[in-house]
Amino acid sequence: MISLAALILFSLTSFSNCKEYTFPDNFKFGVATSAYQVEGAWNVGGKGENIWDYMTHTNPSSILDKSNGDIACDSYNKIKEDVQLLKNLGVDFYRFSISWSRILPSGKTEYINPDGIRYYNELIDELLANNIEPLVTMHHFDLPQPLEEEGGFLNLAIADYFEDYADVLYKNFGDRVKEWTTFNEPTPVCFLGYSGEFLAPMITRKDGGYLCGRTLLIAHAKAYHLYNKRYRASQKGRIGIVHNIFWFEPRTNSIKDLQAAEAANEFNFGWFANPIFSKEGDYPQIMKGSIEYASKQEGLPKSRLPELTQEEIELIKGSADFLGINHYTTFYCSPIEEEGIGKGLFYLPDMDANCVMDEKADGSASFWLKVIPSGFRNSLNWIKEQYNNPEEQYNNPEVIILENGISDDGNLLNDCLRVNYNNLYLTEMLKAIHEDGCNVSGYAAWSFMDNFEWTSGYTQKFGLYSVDFDDPARPRTPKMSAFVFKNIIQERKINW
Ligand code: NOJ
Repeated sequence: MISLAALILFSLTSFSNCKEYTFPDNFKFGVATSAYQVEGAWNVGGKGENIWDYMTHTNPSSILDKSNGDIACDSYNKIKEDVQLLKNLGVDFYRFSISWSRILPSGKTEYINPDGIRYYNELIDELLANNIEPLVTMHHFDLPQPLEEEGGFLNLAIADYFEDYADVLYKNFGDRVKEWTTFNEPTPVCFLGYSGEFLAPMITRKDGGYLCGRTLLIAHAKAYHLYNKRYRASQKGRIGIVHNIFWFEPRTNSIKDLQAAEAANEFNFGWFANPIFSKEGDYPQIMKGSIEYASKQEGLPKSRLPELTQEEIELIKGSADFLGINHYTTFYCSPIEEEGIGKGLFYLPDMDANCVMDEKADGSASFWLKVIPSGFRNSLNWIKEQYNNPEEQYNNPEVIILENGISDDGNLLNDCLRVNYNNLYLTEMLKAIHEDGCNVSGYAAWSFMDNFEWTSGYTQKFGLYSVDFDDPARPRTPKMSAFVFKNIIQERKINW
């Protein structure tokens, strides 16, 4: 029988092999939400209609459980209560988004809605009074419907309307908001909203995503330059953007699979990150080449990816003070003609990449989300290497994780799945910081509370707090993951 002394010795030696990293001193913790997903009050106080109001009302079947964000978590009416919960968690910052339609009901500055200004003023003031920094996203999937009726992001004029909207935000809130992000997840906004059927407005044009991408990049850059011109000197804040980085690995070690994975990473992330953070600006070369090739194969006279002019490249290049990223999961890629794999979730003919999930990995309530913690560290390293040029503005640019989390069906307050996911992913992030030198300065868990998960409605719960959507009062209850996250923030290390 193994002796007690041997057991103790064994545990000591095995723990000493297990490095325990702490979070750097100035590292900041937060939690995240977005306006449409939590606010509710969709038509209260003069708010205008946005593309999600419109889609969920006119086509309820587009949402898995036919629900909508009309009431959602009722956060519109719960500023004080929610800020107390945030304070109790001990977060340094709260990432939320402003509803464009609550501020500008028509999407344009012809009328600024006083109740919208009041609501966000109260939220910001309450946060600051409790020592929590607001980190504000200007657009999180919820374009005003009247602007969609003018073509949405397919119409370049949206870039000017966005600049005007940003101006209203800086003017009204910039004295207190110091961390801004313009857009959340441009790739899904454009690819799934204008070339796919997964996000509003569900337009399916092969070139829709690319047209949208150009408008969105220009809109972002205009908002950034406006801040520089009029507000930076007095307000002294920072402007970033939030990109989604799914991580794409090669399915095998073959060169073909390596190329497919690189193509998928460039398509998903480089599409919007390269024009801003790379030395050359512009879209990734591989993306330009592949789309041109695919377009010619279809007999088109030219690439369906609209070129950025030199002037646009210069406008967009360098237009961010930090890089916000959302990371959830990893996929495995091969070229699309590879047989015996089946059509993956990321089937990207324009990029010759077909990316599938690892069916053996632990799953979640979201069909697309598997637990693959190593992908987090790999993506952070990829960013560091891609945008690492000592001569340039972005030399291992500052990254803030603005979403990371996992869904379950919400039936358990004892949410081991989430505790485990958070611990594993945070550990990989700490390795990226301490062992690989990745420049990560903060982390926000997605999400503060269960909320409306877009076309999945309320079937997938990502919250640290559970929300009872059957109760009109929408009571919030902390899950085990909330206690564990609070402990991580307090101790500044992960307690296994
Ligand atoms: C990213 C989106 O920004 C957020 O709105 C969404 O709820 C999470 N992913 C989970 O899917």
